[in-house]
Amino acid sequence: MILHPTYELNETGHLTVAGLDAVELAREFGTPVYLLDTDAVRAQCRLYREAFREFFGETSLPAFAGKALCYKGLYRLIAEEGILADCVSPGELFTAHAAGFLMENVFFHGNNKTDADLRYALELGVGHIVADGEDELDALDRIAAELDVRPHILLRITPGIDPHTHKKISTGNVDSKFGMAIATGQAMEFVKRALASPRLILDGFHCHVGSQIFDTEPFTDACDIMLGFIAAVRSETGYEAGMLNIGGGFGVRYTEADPEIDYRENIRLLGAEIDRMCGVYGVSKPRIVMEPGRSIVAAAGCTLYTCGTVKTIPGYRSYISVDGGMPDNPRYALYQSQYTVLNASRANAKADFTCTVAGRCCESGDLLAEGVSLAKPSRGDIIAVLVTGAYNYSMASNYNRIPRPPVVELSGGSARVAVRRETYADVAALDC
Ligand code: LLP
Repeated sequence: MILHPTYELNETGHLTVAGLDAVELAREFGTPVYLLDTDAVRAQCRLYREAFREFFGETSLPAFAGKALCYKGLYRLIAEEGILADCVSPGELFTAHAAGFLMENVFFHGNNKTDADLRYALELGVGHIVADGEDELDALDRIAAELDVRPHILLRITPGIDPHTHKKISTGNVDSKFGMAIATGQAMEFVKRALASPRLILDGFHCHVGSQIFDTEPFTDACDIMLGFIAAVRSETGYEAGMLNIGGGFGVRYTEADPEIDYRENIRLLGAEIDRMCGVYGVSKPRIVMEPGRSIVAAAGCTLYTCGTVKTIPGYRSYISVDGGMPDNPRYALYQSQYTVLNASRANAKADFTCTVAGRCCESGDLLAEGVSLAKPSRGDIIAVLVTGAYNYSMASNYNRIPRPPVVELSGGSARVAVRRETYADVAALDC
């Protein structure tokens, strides 16, 4: 096993992904290609679903955060696994709906939903709209009246927690574009405004502390603050929230340097703390929802590339260039995210070639990794970047007019295309 059960070596020294030879997959589907071990995704959905039922309560369910990975087949998969979905844009709503996903099981987020977005969500019958601010409540009230519907809503509250993660991916601080802060008193006013609307049905609150978090502490801190807030709201207004959605954020092991995570144990600890805090604040235990994205799909995905140029600059460093890069994985360029990179063609050879892995774009910042060690590749070797299942395909672009790679699902020893490769004609299709 290499990092996660999805990745192994076979007798020819090739990397295998979900039991299939990576070099053969590269030959069959071309490179770059995103591979996704859907059996591993399903196992993770079940782990979450069962642990939620056991430790959070019968009615508590996870909602998969589609921002991590979004295409129709994935919504079909999560529907089969009986979990909910978190959508953050009309495009994600459209994809879920087109896949036949039950829209009642969707939470719709966003700090700036337009009137058109709200109307679209209401027309689709989205289960919960997570209102981000007071303007949005007014717009929602008005549009719901026009459509003569009574939407169920949650309010996005900012608990003010720094989860000690990368700043660009921490969204729970007071100084945030998301939600209304408890510390400034705005959250309480927000609740009163929602309660004053006879049309909006307030089911509870939402918060999100950040992403790629390894400890349970930021989550227990968030629950502590949010349950305290539920108690404060009840004493000020008489309203007691029945649902608490605590967002996403459990981390994923990208490299050997990251800790192994026992998700079930984290959920158990969090559940026990929630029970204890409900007692402390004297509130009934709300229905708990969480929105894991990364921790459901990241480990199950990897990207295969073909190695092109290999060069060493004496006294400086070695570069290997691959046939993809920041358009299919912008995370190193954006966040300096660390990845495990292997020479899939010679995965059992000594990993003693330290290099920078560069993409093919006309931009020097187009790198996938720096200072990684792998078996020295030559032109034509297959290079694998592991743990790319989250925030890669969903963040991909056509920079330099590079077509996006396909998503190939692997399950039970066979492979099938779930999203086809873009063509140059696709890339130019909108040009008038
Ligand atoms: N719910 C809400 C409201 C969120 O804002 C997020 C992530 C999630 C759920 C899912 O969090 P997860 O379980 O995946 O950590 N592009 C960045 C990640 C941005 C995450 C933003 N919000 C990256 O590539 O690391």
